Amino acid sequence: MPRLSALDFAKAERQSALMTRSQISPPAGFKHLPLYFSPAQQAELISCVKQATQTAPFFQPAMPKTGTPLSVVMTNFGTLGWVTDKAQGYRYEPAHPKTGAHWPPLPDLLVRLWKETAEWPDLPEACLVNWYREGSKMGAHIDRDELAVNAPVVSVSLGDPAMFRIGGPKRGGPTHGIKLMSGDVVVMGGASRQCYHSVSKIYYGESALVPNGGRINLTMRRVNL
Ligand code: SIN
Ligand code: FE2
Repeated sequence: MPRLSALDFAKAERQSALMTRSQISPPAGFKHLPLYFSPAQQAELISCVKQATQTAPFFQPAMPKTGTPLSVVMTNFGTLGWVTDKAQGYRYEPAHPKTGAHWPPLPDLLVRLWKETAEWPDLPEACLVNWYREGSKMGAHIDRDELAVNAPVVSVSLGDPAMFRIGGPKRGGPTHGIKLMSGDVVVMGGASRQCYHSVSKIYYGESALVPNGGRINLTMRRVNL
């Protein structure tokens, strides 16, 4: 056996730390349902998004206080939509920030998905539509703008794959990583609902599903108790 140089040893250690990091088990209540939606259903969801953007166009969200733009653009379905801007920060609003019109209703396929997976008595008021284009990411955060903190978050991935990471209730700990593919569903219920999660990478250009490219993530949330 050749002896490892100090540099090789450091590299091997880093590699093994990275592998451990992505291989911790996910928190309790986290579910990944691969290819929940067939390609035909995925195409139907994309056409629902396309139709929604006729009255609720994608808008550019910005961080509270600093006004730094997020790398995704957004719109919503539902009676409430999640928005954020420099002046007022993270919140739910019944109307689009630019047009003032109510958000379009939740598509039937999404209502059905919630009923099949959420195990929650009320329907979600909100479905956030995030469009990730080349280089877009989502930093580590916990969803905490809802009063119904225990209602699960149910999300659908469409288009390009994404590296999704979920850790624990404290920022910066080890994470469980999964490559989410088009048609996959994620349910964050139980303890996982209060856990940090992020999207660290988009595998841009791997899917032709989303018009003009990228990944669309649909995230349903129950807001009020
Ligand atoms: C989010 O947590 O806001 C988005 C998750 C995703 O894009 O898969
Ligand atoms: Fe989130």
